[in-house]
Amino acid sequence: MKLLVTGGCGFIGSNFLNLFAPLHGEVSFLNWDGLFYAANPHSLLSLENSENYRFRKIDLADSEAVHAAFQEDRPDAVLHLAAESHVDRSIKSAEPFLRSNVLGTLNLLSAASALGEQFKGPFVQMSTDEVFGSVEEPDAFTEDSPYHPNNPYAASKAAADHFASAYAHTHNLSVRIVHCSNNYGPRQQPEKLIPLMVLNALQRKPLPVYGRGEQVRDWIFVGDHCRALWQILTEGQDGRHYMVGAGNTQRNLDMVRSICQRVARLQGAPEQELLDLIQFVQDRPGHDPRYAVDASRTSRDLGWEPAESFDSGLDLTVKWYLDNPDWVEKAQNPEHHQWLKEHYGGIL
Ligand code: TYD
Repeated sequence: MKLLVTGGCGFIGSNFLNLFAPLHGEVSFLNWDGLFYAANPHSLLSLENSENYRFRKIDLADSEAVHAAFQEDRPDAVLHLAAESHVDRSIKSAEPFLRSNVLGTLNLLSAASALGEQFKGPFVQMSTDEVFGSVEEPDAFTEDSPYHPNNPYAASKAAADHFASAYAHTHNLSVRIVHCSNNYGPRQQPEKLIPLMVLNALQRKPLPVYGRGEQVRDWIFVGDHCRALWQILTEGQDGRHYMVGAGNTQRNLDMVRSICQRVARLQGAPEQELLDLIQFVQDRPGHDPRYAVDASRTSRDLGWEPAESFDSGLDLTVKWYLDNPDWVEKAQNPEHHQWLKEHYGGIL
């Protein structure tokens, strides 16, 4: 199988490739990435000399380039992970989300269907639980939840999902749509809650909690999500939506406190020193109060279960950021990031 992974230099993509490319020598992994701000080629250095891995720098919003690359590479299946994903950025400026998430997805769908029967599929569309809006305690989103996107990021993902479903219906494309809860783990862009808090705590910088930290998110370790993606890709059914989550709902404030506790333990520092860094800051406009995912149907149908508990996954994650100052330095240093892009663009 020739598997096209889009956004392979991003958080979920790099975890997926690092996990599965060494395990599946029989699969050719093609990584298409635009190397925009959230991409970090440094996350994939260990695959540089792998025979079953190839990188292509490409802007998915460029229709001509996507069609030409599809004709050249002729992938059998697509795992479409590339996306702008930070809600705060989408509130400041939604246009890049329309461009990358909607136009980028549409171009891929169109290029895949242009291959006709030569494209076996599936086309796995990485969506989010955020397309469903917010859900009240004790309920959780299911495959039957109605779309109700509340922020521009969620709206762009909902639009992309609708295009994917429409291509399945109109062009007979084999499409599967995945709605996962909030991911955490190694190699996540430091603007997201968990890496931001871990790194700020390690560096004794303020920990900015939006509002009173009452919002609830459902957290899954990225490796568990990647294993679900592999099963959906290889054993899933066309036309299905798959919910993925680990049933770990946490209030943001409790999550930040858990991070403080771990950083204190690992550094042998008093916990209070870390807790004192918490600052309540202005809330995000239109902040969704609660996300929660019911993944029981995915578990039942695919026999998939998350392996990490909240405690083991968070321990692993905090330790990873502590043990990888080199990666952190590069992720936080725009100059080095630029150098990597220039140096590795087209090669890695
Ligand atoms: P985030 O990681 O941006 O994911 P999402 O908004 O897609 O769920 O944020 C997770 C939660 O953490 C969300 O409720 C917003 C909150 N948050 C903070 O309180 N402070 C921060 O600095 C950030 C980045 C997020």
